[in-house]
Amino acid sequence: MNKMISAIIHKRPHFLVVALLIQIISLMAIGFLVITQSFIELSVFEWSITQSLLAGFLAYHLCMPKWWVLIHLGFMPLVIITLALNISPLWYLFLFICLMLVYGKTYKTRVPLYLSSQQVNKVLKSRLPKRKHFSFLDLGSGCGGLISRLAKAHKNGLFYGIEAAPIPFLISKLRNIFASSSCKISWGDFWQQDFSQYDVVYAYLSPVPMETLWHKARKEMRPGSLLISNTFQIPGVAPDEIIELNDFSNSTLYLWKIKM
Ligand SMILES: C[S@@+](CC[C@H](N)C(=O)[O-])C[C@H]1O[C@@H](n2cnc3c(N)ncnc32)[C@H](O)[C@@H]1O
Repeated sequence: MNKMISAIIHKRPHFLVVALLIQIISLMAIGFLVITQSFIELSVFEWSITQSLLAGFLAYHLCMPKWWVLIHLGFMPLVIITLALNISPLWYLFLFICLMLVYGKTYKTRVPLYLSSQQVNKVLKSRLPKRKHFSFLDLGSGCGGLISRLAKAHKNGLFYGIEAAPIPFLISKLRNIFASSSCKISWGDFWQQDFSQYDVVYAYLSPVPMETLWHKARKEMRPGSLLISNTFQIPGVAPDEIIELNDFSNSTLYLWKIKM
């Protein structure tokens, strides 16, 4: 049975489709139980917990990542709790729009927003050239914190960031209004960017795009330039250097020097 379910999953329907189906199926199963029997009497909240246990069970057996199992376990009880709080629906709409403007494209990119730590900043500061001119590109620059701090410390560098999500992009624009002109952030898709103009390309993405990123970097980056990935390795390609950091997420920087 598990194998059959797993086979369906490995045909790779989008993970959000799977998550939605799990919620619908468990909701329908519990709804059916509520309507067709009278010997179990539970409150709405207790039924929501039953539904969430079923959803968590399905998610676990469909081999969804652990954090998705947790989301399924918490989803319906939290919906019931927030409904009981009687909050105006406009707040939900507002929150939904904000989340869409930050995470909406994750559906396509599979790269959510999380920020590089101060430790990453420190290491990059010490690694970038002190006098020589260079250019640095942050792929998916988030709220622009990393490159604006690096630009302050390295007047000899030009720092570029590309961000796809509107709210982080606007925040980075605002924080750079009065900053030096050596830091430029644009709104767009870094896959459309030509990497050949940059000496250092920095990526803090997710496991999903790393292989494709390597093909693009190998094709476009100049020999001698540097590709740095925070946390995520390129499968099957040994880095030239590994720097382990002692930050909150125990991140690791992987460095590849592009060869001829
Ligand atoms: C993990 S965050 C890293 C933020 C920042 N670079 C840092 O280190 O603090 C990744 C960011 O990449 C953005 N992103 C993902 N795919 C993208 C794409 N194809 N083009 C532009 N930005 C993208 C996401 O919106 C997200 O803000």
